[in-house]
Amino acid sequence: MLSPTSKWSYNLFLNTFLLIFVLSFNLGSSTSKCNPNDKNNLLEIKKHFNIYGNASTFVSWDPNTDPCTNWTVGINCDTNGRVTNLLISSDYDVVGEIPASIGELPYLQSLYLSYLPHLSGPIPLFLAKLTNLEQLKLGYNLSGSIPEFLGQLKKLTVIDLSSNTLTGSIPSSLSHLPKIRYISFENNMLSGSIPTSFGSIKSLGQLFLNSNNLSGPIPSSFSRLSNLNFLDLRQNQLTGNIPPSFGSFKALYLYLSFNNLSGPIPRSFGNANLPQLLISNNKFTGDASFLFSKDNTVISFIDISNNLFNFDFSNVDLPQSLNYLDISHNKIYGSLPKRLGQLPLKGIDVSFNQLCGKIPTGRRLKRFKPTLFSNNKCLCGPPLLPCR
Ligand SMILES: *[C@@H]1O[C@H](CO)[C@@H](O)[C@H](O)[C@H]1NC(C)=O
Ligand SMILES: *[C@@H]1O[C@H](CO)[C@@H](O)[C@H](O)[C@H]1NC(C)=O
Ligand SMILES: *[C@@H]1O[C@H](CO)[C@@H](O)[C@H](O)[C@H]1NC(C)=O
Ligand SMILES: *[C@@H]1O[C@H](CO)[C@@H](O)[C@H](O)[C@H]1NC(C)=O
Ligand SMILES: *[C@@H]1O[C@H](CO)[C@@H](O)[C@H](O)[C@H]1NC(C)=O
Repeated sequence: MLSPTSKWSYNLFLNTFLLIFVLSFNLGSSTSKCNPNDKNNLLEIKKHFNIYGNASTFVSWDPNTDPCTNWTVGINCDTNGRVTNLLISSDYDVVGEIPASIGELPYLQSLYLSYLPHLSGPIPLFLAKLTNLEQLKLGYNLSGSIPEFLGQLKKLTVIDLSSNTLTGSIPSSLSHLPKIRYISFENNMLSGSIPTSFGSIKSLGQLFLNSNNLSGPIPSSFSRLSNLNFLDLRQNQLTGNIPPSFGSFKALYLYLSFNNLSGPIPRSFGNANLPQLLISNNKFTGDASFLFSKDNTVISFIDISNNLFNFDFSNVDLPQSLNYLDISHNKIYGSLPKRLGQLPLKGIDVSFNQLCGKIPTGRRLKRFKPTLFSNNKCLCGPPLLPCR
């Protein structure tokens, strides 16, 4: 056991150690006062955006203090006093176009001008000067098109231009970004087709192009995106089949609902690792029974509703992992498999098909609303009327 004296010296040692640590930390950032050019540009940015003078982002942006040490919101610096991150977010009182002074912060790695409802104008060419940029998120009210030059910012790992009013097509030059992991252009007004060249972006993990006006097919080159784990193409005007080569992904959340896709879905989906498959509101035809397999331990969400699927449901092998099943508004026939009554389902809809026979008993299914089983050929039993 420590004596009181040695305990005291032990504490002294600890405190001294902490003090040295804290001092050297402060020393590190205070010797590196903000680069004067960077400071001037930050003050320009403030002047440009803060037209009402009340934007909360800029409260600490005092011209008489040092940005790297004293400005508490919106910026980070490296040890040389260069501004590496500019993060202006969720501020109603930030108003106007992206100012040219942002292009004069050459050490920027992250640029977030996000959730700014009054950020307007195009994505300006001077952002091409930010060659150290790794993360770019801009929104909410930008117009114009997605510029080609983004394909030259080779360090980019994240591009998020979601929820603007961007028009025009997606530049294929973005496929030249060697490190890009995340692309979101969701909720814009983009048109034209999805660049085939995107199939060569080996690093791509997540691609969100949903809620646009994209047309043409899903490029079959996408089958080569071995790191892809989230593909959301919902709510576009895509046509054609799902490429037969789809299915070899490691684990893909695949969302294709509300398009104009057609044909049968690929057989390869039978042994694909698809935790969630959302392909409703298209014109898919034929068999989908191979989606269901007792051996499938990953699929939790299947929505194939509002298509033209036409197959016998009686003998499908339902996966235990299934939480949510929507097969409504198709031409599916046969009966509901017994096992359906035993799955831990949180949601189900089998309405508007050609199903017949007794709804499986078990504690689960009768809790659901009758309408989720209605408009079939002759389904019966709880929650519908008793079988005759
Ligand atoms: C900031 O000023 C503008 C213009 O006067 C006003 O519309 C806005 O509500 C103000 N914001 C806050 C948080 O007071
Ligand atoms: C700026 O920050 C430093 C370090 O935190 C502090 O010592 C100094 O008092 C601050 N200056 C002002 C004017 O707030
Ligand atoms: C959105 O941008 C347009 C110009 O592109 C502008 O006229 C409009 O006022 C902006 N909306 C808001 C909410 O600031
Ligand atoms: C969507 O694209 C179609 C042509 O493919 C065009 O006729 C239509 O106007 C576009 N809609 C919007 C909102 O851009
Ligand atoms: C959807 O595809 C059908 C042919 O399969 C075509 O006749 C129809 O015009 C397409 N609709 C849209 C909105 O693209």
